Amino acid sequence: VLNTEIIRVGSSPPPAKYGGRHTVTLIPGDGIGPELLSHVREVFRFSCVPVDFEVVNVNSALETEDDINNAITAIRRNGVALKGNIETKHTMPSSVKSRNNLLRTSLDLYANVMHCQSLPGVQTRHKNIDIMIIRENTEGEYSSLEHESVSGVVESLKIITRSNSLRIAEYAFQLAREKGRRRVTAVHKANIMKLGDGLFLQCCREVASGYPDITFDSMIVDNTTMQLVSKPHQFDVMVMPNLYGNVVSNVCAGLVGGPGLVPGANYGRDYAVFETATRNTGKSIAGRNIANPTAMLLASCMMLDHLKLYDYATVIRNAVLTTMNETRLHTADLGGQGTTSDVVQSIMKIIQSKGQLTADF
Ligand SMILES: *[C@@H]1O[C@H](CO)[C@@H](O)[C@H](O)[C@H]1NC(C)=O
Ligand SMILES: *[C@@H]1O[C@H](CO)[C@@H](O)[C@H](O)[C@H]1NC(C)=O
Repeated sequence: VLNTEIIRVGSSPPPAKYGGRHTVTLIPGDGIGPELLSHVREVFRFSCVPVDFEVVNVNSALETEDDINNAITAIRRNGVALKGNIETKHTMPSSVKSRNNLLRTSLDLYANVMHCQSLPGVQTRHKNIDIMIIRENTEGEYSSLEHESVSGVVESLKIITRSNSLRIAEYAFQLAREKGRRRVTAVHKANIMKLGDGLFLQCCREVASGYPDITFDSMIVDNTTMQLVSKPHQFDVMVMPNLYGNVVSNVCAGLVGGPGLVPGANYGRDYAVFETATRNTGKSIAGRNIANPTAMLLASCMMLDHLKLYDYATVIRNAVLTTMNETRLHTADLGGQGTTSDVVQSIMKIIQSKGQLTADF
C-alpha cells in the first residue's frame, strides 16, 4: 500500500462543528484550479465526506488586495483551506505581492511539505522514489524586498533569520522521526552566500545535534539537482530555504511523473493550506477536460488526514492510486488520452465498489 499521507507536526486541526462536519475554505484560483476543485467536491459529495466548503474567489486581475484579504480572513475562521494556484502577473508593479505568497506569509504557513513518491502505474526513468521535501515557506528570496535606488542597479534582498531557520529544521527532524526516516539533508549554497545560507546550515546542524538517531548531512544546491536526476535514491528527507525548495520540488515532481501527480501542503502553527505541489496554474490546458486531477485529489486527501478523517482519506486515496495504475486512463501529461472526467468517473466507481461509505463510517 502506498503511503502518501503526511503526518503533521505542530498545529492541530480545528475541532469539527455541527454534528461532526468541518467547514473548509475553498479558493478555486486560476487556470485548471476551478475545474480540479469542482472534481474534488464531486468526489467528496459522492463519498459523503463530512466537509462543507466555503468558496472564496480571488480575482488575480485586480490590483487591490481586498480579495486575498477576504480569503485570508476565511482561512483564519475555518483553520483549513484547499486552493488552486492564483496567477501572478509579471506586469503588475513590484509593490503588488504574489497573492499566493501573501497568503502563506500572512498565515505564517512556514513549512511547505511535499512527499515525492513513485506511483506504481506511472512509468518513469527511476523507480521507487520516496523523498520528503521540507521547504521554508515565509522568507529567503520571497521577501518581496527589491529596490532600484540607483538606476540600472537592482538590489533584491534574501532574508534568512535564525528563528525561522531553527523552526523549519526542527519541523524537518520531527517529521523525519515521526515517519521513521533515517536521514535529513540540508540543501544550501553556503560556499557563496556565506552569511545567509551559512546561518541556515548552522541552524540545521544545531537542531540535528538533538536528533542523534537521524543522520544529518548537507549538499550544495547545484550538486543536489544533479544528484537528484542521476541518483535520486540517496535522498530521504530534505530541508532547504524557500527558492531552492521551489526548484528542488519541481525537479522531484518531474522524477515521479510531473506536476499533475504530486500534492503539497503548507503548515503553520494555527492553519493549514493544501494545494498541488508545483503550484502552477496550468492555464494552457484549462477548460479542456484534459488536466490530471490526481495531484489535487491527493492534496484533498492530505487535508482529510489533517482533519483526522482518515477513513475517507484512505478510501479516496486508494481509488485515485488504483485509477492511475490503469494506463488507458492516463491523461495527456502522462502520454495518454484519458480525460479528466474519465479519471474521476473511474475513481467514483472504485469508491462505490468498496461499499456504502455512509453506512460504514
Ligand atoms: C555531490 O554529491 C555527491 C553525492 O553525495 C558527492 O559524492 C560529491 O562529492 C558531491 N560533489 C560536489 C562537487 O560537492
Ligand atoms: C498496480 O498494479 C500493480 C501491477 O499490476 C499491482 O501489483 C498493484 O497492486 C497495483 N496498485 C494499485 C494501487 O492498484
